[in-house]
Amino acid sequence: MAGSVVVVGSANVDLVVDVPRHPRGGETILGENLRRTPGGKGANQAVAAARGGGADVTFVGAVGRDDDDGELLLASLRQAGVRTDPVSLSELATGTALIAVTADGENTIIVAPGANSEVTIEDGTAGRLGEADVILAQLEIPLETVSSAARARREGATFVLNAAPSRPLPADVLEEVDVLVVNEPEAREVAGREGSPDELAAALNELVPAVVVTLGADGAVVARRRADRTHVPAPKVRAVDTTGAGDAFCGVLAAALAAGTDLADAVHRACLAGALTATRSGAQTAVPSAEELDGYHRAHPNEVAE
Ligand code: RIB
Ligand code: NA
Repeated sequence: MAGSVVVVGSANVDLVVDVPRHPRGGETILGENLRRTPGGKGANQAVAAARGGGADVTFVGAVGRDDDDGELLLASLRQAGVRTDPVSLSELATGTALIAVTADGENTIIVAPGANSEVTIEDGTAGRLGEADVILAQLEIPLETVSSAARARREGATFVLNAAPSRPLPADVLEEVDVLVVNEPEAREVAGREGSPDELAAALNELVPAVVVTLGADGAVVARRRADRTHVPAPKVRAVDTTGAGDAFCGVLAAALAAGTDLADAVHRACLAGALTATRSGAQTAVPSAEELDGYHRAHPNEVAE
C-alpha cells in the first residue's frame, strides 16, 4: 500500500547551461543551450517520491508571490501529484540555482535561496508531519525549520534527512534522525573525519540508527546498528546530466520506506531511480515513473535485489 511522505525543503528554478569544462576563478567561458527547469532539492525529492515512489506526498516549502518561477514550480509539483497547499508565498523571489553541466554529466551548482530562506512549518501543517509515515528534509532551508521537522517525528513518523548541501548539523537535529542519506563529501562533513565510504558509514552509524552513503555510479553503502553493512550496486547507465540524481534517490527511498519496504530493498530501488535520472537532462523532468522502475526491474532481474 502507498505510504505518505511529507517533504520539507527548497524549491528552485534551475538555470542550466552546458559547458565544455568548468571555469577557473576569474575566467569567462562560453556555454550553450540555456534552459529554465523546475528544481530545488526539496521539490525534486517530492516529485520523485510521488512519481517514482507512488507515495501520497505533501510538500512544505516557499516560493515568490506572483512570480513566474513560483508558478513553474507549483505546476511541476502538482503535475506529479504532490499536494502543495502548505507552500507559502513569500515577498522574496523564488529560489534560483545556477547550474553548469559538462559533457560527462558532471555539474556545479550555486543556489540563491530567496524564498527558501523563509520556509517554516505553520501550526496548521505541523500535525500533518507527525501523521505521515515519513518526513523527508534536506539542508537548503533554515536549520530551525529542519529542527521542527525533525521534532515532529516524535508523533510517530520516520525522519529521513538528506544532509545536502553539506553543512554542520546541530545535535538536536542529529538526535532525531532515523535514516541519514549523504554522499561522500557530506559524510565527511557530518562525521568530521576522513575515511573510506565504509568507515564513514560506520562512524555515522554511531550517531544515527541507519546511514546510507551514496556513491554515484558505484551505488550506496547501507549501515544499520546490529546488522552487517551492505553495498548496494547501481545499474550501469550512460550519464548525461547527474542533476537531480541524488534527489530522485532520496525521494524514491522515502516513498519505499513509507510503504514499509526494508531499508536495503528501498536503497536498491533508490539506486535505480538515481541512475535513470542521470540519463536525462534536468532534475524533476528526468525523474522516472514507478512503472518505468518496475519495468527495469523485470527487464534486468540480475541487477537488482530479490
Ligand atoms: O540536487 C539538485 C538541485 O540542487 C537542483 O535542482 C538545484 O536547484 C539545487 O537545489
Ligand atoms: Na538529470
